[in-house]
Amino acid sequence: MTPTESILNFPYAYGLILAAAIGAITAATIYHFLRKTRAKVAQLVSERDTKEKLIEEMRKLEKFRRDFISNLTHEIRTPLTGILGAVELLSDEEPLNDSDRIAMLKVLKNESIRLDKLAQDILALARIEHTTDEAKRAFAICDISDVIKNVFTLMKPKTAAAGIGLILLKNESVKTACDAHLIEEAILNLIENAIRYSNSLTIELSLESVGGRAKITVSDKGVGIDKKHLPRLFERFYRVDKARSREQGGTGLGLAIVKHIAQLHEGEVSVTSNLGEGCTFTIFI
Ligand SMILES: Nc1ncnc2c1ncn2[C@@H]1O[C@H](COP(=O)(O)OP(=O)(O)OP(=O)(O)O)[C@@H](O)[C@H]1O
Ligand SMILES: [Mg+2]
Repeated sequence: MTPTESILNFPYAYGLILAAAIGAITAATIYHFLRKTRAKVAQLVSERDTKEKLIEEMRKLEKFRRDFISNLTHEIRTPLTGILGAVELLSDEEPLNDSDRIAMLKVLKNESIRLDKLAQDILALARIEHTTDEAKRAFAICDISDVIKNVFTLMKPKTAAAGIGLILLKNESVKTACDAHLIEEAILNLIENAIRYSNSLTIELSLESVGGRAKITVSDKGVGIDKKHLPRLFERFYRVDKARSREQGGTGLGLAIVKHIAQLHEGEVSVTSNLGEGCTFTIFI
């Protein structure tokens, strides 16, 4: 190429370089814009997901609140109906004979006790649920084996009176920060359930130290619980046999209280059971 030709071609080459440069800048700008847009879209999607999650959580809470109120209303109305019926009969102009009067007074007593237990259980649940972190930090160190000893001494006469043998299989020392009264309440709940519902002739209680944690088990060899009930067993007001629970004065809050006591101690409660083969409840804290 002659120098003249080179000079003539210069604008063409310059144009090519300029076009390439503009192309590169445009591509970079588009790439940058796309990246920003993608980030923005991702942010919006994540915000929408968070919002949807929050809405879902709120829906669940609202359903929980509605179910709780409707269960509670039902649990209050059942004894109230009994009380009102008895009062009506007792205040009838036609006086009741002695045995009917005594029967009605028994209804008044039992239904009032049930209402009182319901109020106490609801308050206990609320208290446990609202235990502050500060209160948790103030838990004193206690040896769970002392709690087990207390429970055993307390329940031995009660089980004996019901013709049931209470056996303490193991009681290893486990020292941990806890609310001893609550742990005692949880174990009492499990033993009382075994007495009431299992029809078992023996109840076994045991405490083992597992990696420094306490594994408390209450086992019976009674009627057991159908597997289909197990996932809901620790829900408030859930009963396997409603009629039997009511007849025993139960409110269906016992196992929910046990669950909350275990969770308060950063632990958990679980159950294994087969119909006709008894139940084993385990608290791990
Ligand atoms: N060891 C057991 N054997 C068979 N059924 C059991 C056993 N423990 C619990 N259940 C069943 O689980 C249900 C729920 O127990 P939970 O302790 O929560 O309520 P409750 O005993 O009916 O009432 P509450 O404990 O408030 O007096 C019981 O109604 C009973 O049907
Ligand atoms: Mg119970």
